[in-house]
Amino acid sequence: MKLGVLTGGGDCPGLNAVIRAVTASNFHRGSHTLGIRRGWRGLVDGDFVEITGPMISGILDKGGTILGSSRTNPTKDPAMLERLKENWRASRIDGLIAIGGDDTLSVAAFLSKEGMNVISVPKTIDNDIGFTDYSFGFHTAVGVITDAIDRLRTTAEAHDRVIILEVMGRHSGWLATYAGIAGGADLILVPERPFDIEEVVEVLKARFARGRNFANVVVAEGAKPEGIENYITRSQAVDEFGHVQLGGVGEYLAKEVGDRMRVDTRAVILGHIQRGGSPVPYDRVLATRLGVRASELAHEGTWGVMAALQGRDITPIPLEEVLGRVNTLREDFFDAAELFFG
Ligand code: F6P
Repeated sequence: MKLGVLTGGGDCPGLNAVIRAVTASNFHRGSHTLGIRRGWRGLVDGDFVEITGPMISGILDKGGTILGSSRTNPTKDPAMLERLKENWRASRIDGLIAIGGDDTLSVAAFLSKEGMNVISVPKTIDNDIGFTDYSFGFHTAVGVITDAIDRLRTTAEAHDRVIILEVMGRHSGWLATYAGIAGGADLILVPERPFDIEEVVEVLKARFARGRNFANVVVAEGAKPEGIENYITRSQAVDEFGHVQLGGVGEYLAKEVGDRMRVDTRAVILGHIQRGGSPVPYDRVLATRLGVRASELAHEGTWGVMAALQGRDITPIPLEEVLGRVNTLREDFFDAAELFFG
């Protein structure tokens, strides 16, 4: 058997661990692995590399992806799609393991409907893919954000400041809330709960009134004020899947809070630091298990599924069921965080 593997969308710690596991597991079953470079772009361009033993040696702990990634969407252009299919045939792969987030998944589901053999492995630091308890990369990013909150607390306290930390999370507040709990955030704002700026200020004023003359606020980049349809962003740039480039709500909040409370405020945007670097052990293990399971499913002939972590098991879920399903933040997690606000 010959299996293709690609990584699409924004990178995240653990991608190389999945590639390594898929390749090793294929090898043990007597199968070959063909790497496709830069996500769907590599299938459109016919940019392939045979993955050998030496290529996967020493990559378990490496961030990024040895295959590269892109946000190419071949389904939006019939000519691109035709080239993708031609290259698929020419590559002689029996099936493909597509490691990616919701956009990569939507292309995988599309190709699967067209009769192509695809298995998807969920990837996102945002932890927002439906049917999967945790995606690899999430816990690594939580560690980075928690460290940032710890560091920002001491400087905020030293200067009597409100520091607003903007973190990733387009559709869901998992990162903000999980790291916010771990770091003891004084207020957390998430996409699932649109905020009222007056209430934000009230919570912070109450804190200052208690003599706590500083605060750490964590905001997910996808959080919006109540009644506002569009995200608050600095940029208007949109990717091939129609997503606007996020980032800006932290600065908006710093200004609004500063003006209303007349305290010194700062916005800190953690950005891609959250996506880089070495995966924590939890993510290395999860990524390895997902890669092994995806290879197993391919050899069983279970196509058109996503390998999802549910409890302790990795379960195949039909791609059409996963499509468009967001893993929104569980309320009980936010409730636990909220106890410590103000
Ligand atoms: O992968 C999802 C994500 O982490 C979002 O939270 C964020 O908006 C996006 O990636 C940013 O990615 P990039 O800057 O690479 O387009």
